Amino acid sequence: MKIVLLGPPGAGKGTQAAMISGRFEIPHISTGEIFRTNVHEGTPLGKEAKSYIDQGLLVPDDLTMNMVLDRLNDPDTENGYILDGFPRTMVQAIMFDEALEQRNESIDIVLDIDVEDEVIVERMSGRRICPDCGETYHIEHLPPKIHGICNLCGSELIVREDDRPETVLKRLSVYREKTEPLVDYYAGRNILTKIDGDRDSLEVFREIESILEA
Ligand code: AP5
Ligand code: MG
Repeated sequence: MKIVLLGPPGAGKGTQAAMISGRFEIPHISTGEIFRTNVHEGTPLGKEAKSYIDQGLLVPDDLTMNMVLDRLNDPDTENGYILDGFPRTMVQAIMFDEALEQRNESIDIVLDIDVEDEVIVERMSGRRICPDCGETYHIEHLPPKIHGICNLCGSELIVREDDRPETVLKRLSVYREKTEPLVDYYAGRNILTKIDGDRDSLEVFREIESILEA
């Protein structure tokens, strides 16, 4: 099963992708997470991506495309995957379709997680992440067991660099301009399903689970 998750920053793509990945045993591929790992490790890709990410802008399409296509060559993608945060521009969507076509493959379903802007701003301001393993928390909705410490690896949690309020607003406007057009693009191909993301995350997941089981 090849799944694409669409939705504004903070909609809960990463949260849902992690649950889908566990339930359906397919890898969760988050382009934002791969970029952040590269930034954290100081790789050439990370150094190049960092200036865009910190400003709330998209990383250029060619860099992103190469990174994703490279990741999709890994053997764990054989039975499918969940793409979280990719494609994010029309150029990426079209290039991705072409790449899949060459492999005689196609996307099975695109889930568009819908959340209002006010909810997004509240979610981002409460989000904390682990800089080492990438696990995501929320100070109210999903707190760690020990305050400020990652449940999985014990590292100290941090605020994501691009979660500062002014950057969040920039990311939202970039989303509306560059990524939202993909909703119509996939709806036109009858592979898009809208999901109300403004509910408890488990409730959102139950709906997604039943859609994917069908
Ligand atoms: P990326 O990491 O993809 O960020 P994003 O799309 O802005 O989305 P977020 O990760 O911020 O939110 P999310 O939807 O995953 O929400 P989450 O589950 O964490 O990209 C970062 C940057 O990388 C981009 O700005 C860009 O520069 C670059 N980039 C990435 N992909 C690219 C591409 N394809 N092309 C070019 N550039 C690219 O949830 C948010 C918070 O809310 C959490 O604290 C969570 O615990 C909480 N929460 C989640 N669900 C619920 C719920 N139902 N109720 C209450 N709280 C909830
Ligand atoms: Mg995310």
